[in-house]
Order: sequence, then C-alpha cells, then structure tokens
Amino acid sequence: MSRHFEWLQVLNQCKREVEDQIRPLLASARKPQPNLGIGAGGDPMKQIDLAAEEAIVNTLRKQEISFTLISEESGFKEYGKKSDQCYVTADPIDGTTNLTRGIPFYATSIAISEKPTLNTVHAALVADLFHDVTYTAQKGKGAYRNDMRISPSEGSSLEEAVIGIDLNSYKVQKIASQLTGLIQKTKHIRHFGANALELCYVADGTTEGFIDIRGKLRPTDMAAAWLIINEAGAKITSINMDPLDVTLSPKQKVEFVASANPRIHKIIIDLLKKKKEKE
Ligand code: IPD
Ligand code: CA
Repeated sequence: MSRHFEWLQVLNQCKREVEDQIRPLLASARKPQPNLGIGAGGDPMKQIDLAAEEAIVNTLRKQEISFTLISEESGFKEYGKKSDQCYVTADPIDGTTNLTRGIPFYATSIAISEKPTLNTVHAALVADLFHDVTYTAQKGKGAYRNDMRISPSEGSSLEEAVIGIDLNSYKVQKIASQLTGLIQKTKHIRHFGANALELCYVADGTTEGFIDIRGKLRPTDMAAAWLIINEAGAKITSINMDPLDVTLSPKQKVEFVASANPRIHKIIIDLLKKKKEKE
C-alpha cells in the first residue's frame, strides 16, 4: 500500500469524524453563539468550526501522525515529536455562513504537504458535508469524486459556461471594473459560498470557472482544492497566468483564476486583463 493511498484513508477518516462531531451541533448552529474569540484567519470562531478542527486533529493523533497543523481557526500548531514531518492545512468548515443559515453548501477541506507551501501539497480532500460527496486527489494519481475519476469541462463558450465569481468583499469597487467584461459576456454567473467546493466544481466539470481576485481568501480555504483542480486536469493560476506560489498560512492571501481548460482560461484572463491594462 503506497503512502499516498494511506493518506487518503486517513483523510476520509478525518471527514467521517468531522461529520460525527458536527452532527449534534447542526440544529443549534443558527442560534446566538458564545464568543470564542477571533481565529487565526481573522474571523470570529464558532463552536462548530472548532469541533470540526478538533475532529481532524484527534483523528491524526489517534493514528500517531506527527504534523504541523495550519488551520483557519488555530493557526500553526505542532503535534508529535516530528512535527515538521508533514503539514496539514485545514479549513475545518468552509462555508460556515451557509451551514449556520441552513444553506446546503459547505465543506471540510484538508491538504497534506511536505512543506508549508502550496506547491508541495500531495494529498487532498474536500468533502461536501451536506450531500456526502467527497473529492480527493493524490499527486500524480488523478482526482476523484467519491470513487469516480473526474475531469473538467471541455466547453469554452462563455455563452454556455457557468462561471463562479467571488464578489464577497467590502472592497468590491476595486475589482468590479476588472470583472465587468467577463460578467457581460457570461450568461451564467454564480457564487455558492464555499470556495473549496466551488473549485471542485471546476475540477469535475460542473462549472467552467471560478475566480477569486479579491485579495481576501486564505490559502487554508483552497489548498486542498488546488491539488484536486490540478490532478483533474483543470487550470488554476494567477491573473498573469503564473503558477500560484503561496505560503500556507492563515495570514496569507491568495488570488486566482481557475478554469476548466486552457482555451476558456485564456478567454477569461484576457477579459480580466483588458480592463486592468486600460486603467
Ligand atoms: C468563506 C467561503 C466564502 C468566501 C469567504 C470565505 P469560511 O470561507 O469560502 O465563499 O467568500 O471569503 O472566508 O469563512 O466559511 O471558511
Ligand atoms: Ca472556515
């Protein structure tokens, strides 16, 4: 059994534990929550986020894995004697607002890497906790939706494409003009509210693109989906088409354009850049 295959087993175990731990909290998630302070990523922490993080940590500890956790909630935390042996980058619950409102679109996201850098992520899981759909990937071994290998859409017509854009920012004015051309040419624009899962939708051909150029997203939210996108054969780059060179830290910010295939990637990027160059 390869090391990578073992990692997928561990990640699936983490997911099951997250499900078990958050289940009793779901009914009261919309009620006023105790003040648990601000998480490492800068957002107020909720009981359900912490329960999900604890589930991940406990699962890894039970398997006697030494690791450094990089989490949106607790930030950097070392576990075990050789905590630099691997890095576990987690967004225990991506889409907490959806979850607390009863909107059925939220996920747990866990990435395993050799170093605290995005380009060393080698195993990943993003699990849609409402629909029981799990995306996984291992470096060099493809990406899967449950047991089915996935590949992205071949479509390149913006007329027919479904493109996700995260406009969730107080500073939306700063990026609005850059996005206008793309929005005008795309018939179906979406944002569902859990970016890890929305990236997986690009990976499995559900949508043709997902763009987040707010300068607000933490790599903890997209590290796992980054590998799933790449292993599925879709594209994810900076707006300048460069590979994403990101340090894994809840304090870091990342911007990206993810698209199903090189043709639509270029079309989207050309539209985003056109406006920027004119300014
Ligand atoms: C949030 C979601 C949302 C995005 C926010 C993220 P969280 O993640 O991914 O779609 O617009 O910027 O913070 O806070 O629920 O883990
Ligand atoms: Ca979160």
